Amino acid sequence: MNIITIYELGGKKPEIASTAYVHPQASVIGDVKIGERVFVAPMASIRGDRGRIEIGDETNVQDGAIIHSDQAFVTKIGQRVNIGHNATIHAECIEDNAAIGMGAVLMIGSKVARGVMIANSALLHNKTVTEPNKIYAGIPAKYLRDIDPGSDARKAIDRYLEDYIESIEDYRENLRETA
Ligand SMILES: CC(C)(COP(=O)(O)OP(=O)(O)OC[C@H]1O[C@@H](n2cnc3c(N)ncnc32)[C@H](O)[C@@H]1OP(=O)(O)O)[C@@H](O)C(=O)NCCC(=O)NCCS
Repeated sequence: MNIITIYELGGKKPEIASTAYVHPQASVIGDVKIGERVFVAPMASIRGDRGRIEIGDETNVQDGAIIHSDQAFVTKIGQRVNIGHNATIHAECIEDNAAIGMGAVLMIGSKVARGVMIANSALLHNKTVTEPNKIYAGIPAKYLRDIDPGSDARKAIDRYLEDYIESIEDYRENLRETA
């Protein structure tokens, strides 16, 4: 079965770097730009029908994550951002090196600063602005603590980033559909 899930809409066609990998069961629609060495896992949805979505180099978008744009702004996701399974992203921006935990919800217009970690299952309310290199957790998400660049939590995120970059070649060469 050949599944095509990258769609042009209203003359706007996703621009996907040749070094990126989008799994055939992910969906990418419309005004979307995907940078170098980005990994997009199965069932992720990146829907640029209302406004543009830009995803920076070496970012990963894990299974079931949803990224949806808004007419009011361009949704900008920076470089080396880790987007965990089932995260829902309606944010205005996620800056470089941020990490979005599994199942986190980033409401419309929220802003995630560089190096921020949003905890698993956190809810970042509309238009919430975060400060760099801090962890936010809970519903609604509140400041939990600072994140040291040498901390175990930061090292774990850096490992995830590298694993997903390595997965690109593995998936390209070794992924086989079986009947
Ligand atoms: C928030 C996080 C970084 C905390 O990690 P940690 O410091 O090792 O966590 P600990 O277990 O030591 O807990 C520290 C405190 O934070 C609280 N906490 C931890 N995770 C939490 C969460 N998801 N939501 C709310 N509170 C949380 C703990 O209850 C604890 O509170 P206490 O001090 O009052 O008891 C981690 O739980 C997390 O969510 N990481 C996200 C990682 C990620 O991006 N994953 C995606 C990978 S695919």
